Amino acid sequence: MPVAIITGASKGLGRALAEALAVRGWDLVLDARGAEALKEAAESASGHGTRVEALPGDVTDAGHRAALVAAARRLGGVDLLVSNASALGAEPLVRLAELPLEGLRRALEVNVVAALGLVREALPLLRRSPAGAVVAVSSDAAAEAYGTWGGYGASKAALDQLAAVLGVEEPGLRVWAVDPGDMATDLYAAAVPDDTDPRPEPAAVAPAFLRLLDERPASGRYAAPALLEQR
Ligand SMILES: NC(=O)c1ccc[n+]([C@@H]2O[C@H](COP(=O)([O-])OP(=O)(O)OC[C@H]3O[C@@H](n4cnc5c(N)ncnc54)[C@H](OP(=O)(O)O)[C@@H]3O)[C@@H](O)[C@H]2O)c1
Repeated sequence: MPVAIITGASKGLGRALAEALAVRGWDLVLDARGAEALKEAAESASGHGTRVEALPGDVTDAGHRAALVAAARRLGGVDLLVSNASALGAEPLVRLAELPLEGLRRALEVNVVAALGLVREALPLLRRSPAGAVVAVSSDAAAEAYGTWGGYGASKAALDQLAAVLGVEEPGLRVWAVDPGDMATDLYAAAVPDDTDPRPEPAAVAPAFLRLLDERPASGRYAAPALLEQR
């Protein structure tokens, strides 16, 4: 069975992706910092009959990233790496004039540096996969100038560029940066607590990612709402 590593898989989009892949028989390595919620997510995914390794830890920890890849190797390799864990830099979000530089550093460390660190760790196994793929979960804040989203958006723009160049440098892989669109998750609530407009649940967005896996379009940047519309 193919093996996926998904970061930030204890809730929100990461958990929805884990469920969707488990239903399809993927073996999974899942991570998040909070051990209890991660264990619960792993138990739910393994209920579909696949092997699921849950490793609590922070993606900014190089030893933890190595442990994630080692766990995948024990399951048979890495066919898909989903860099989904993310930091906002400030909760709630604030204008750049008030953004603590430590917050920006943290967003860059989690969203960019750790994502590249994990890709580098997994690359030898990804290259060996018959259908190796990397998904970098991005945001429309990477491309649009929304007030208060500057630090987070800058980190996602950097992630997009890493993904774009990786796609060029690794023509044997698919590398997709994916903007999932707004979703009803804890991250969104922490970013803009006063915004209570209804938003799609992550489970409704996961099929966009499955479509990429099914159709394997060229490496590049994709938006989940558009992928879902074309279904
Ligand atoms: N929600 C939206 O509207 C929206 C829109 C555009 C893009 N996105 C992107 O979609 C992705 C998923 O976000 P979400 O909305 O599903 O968020 P979420 O529900 O808050 O889930 C985030 C997950 O990441 C984990 N995590 C956070 N920091 C981590 C770290 N340093 N190391 C390991 N795990 C970590 C969290 O668990 P712990 O806290 O226990 O570690 C949790 O499992 C993110 O990349 C986000 O930027 C979201």
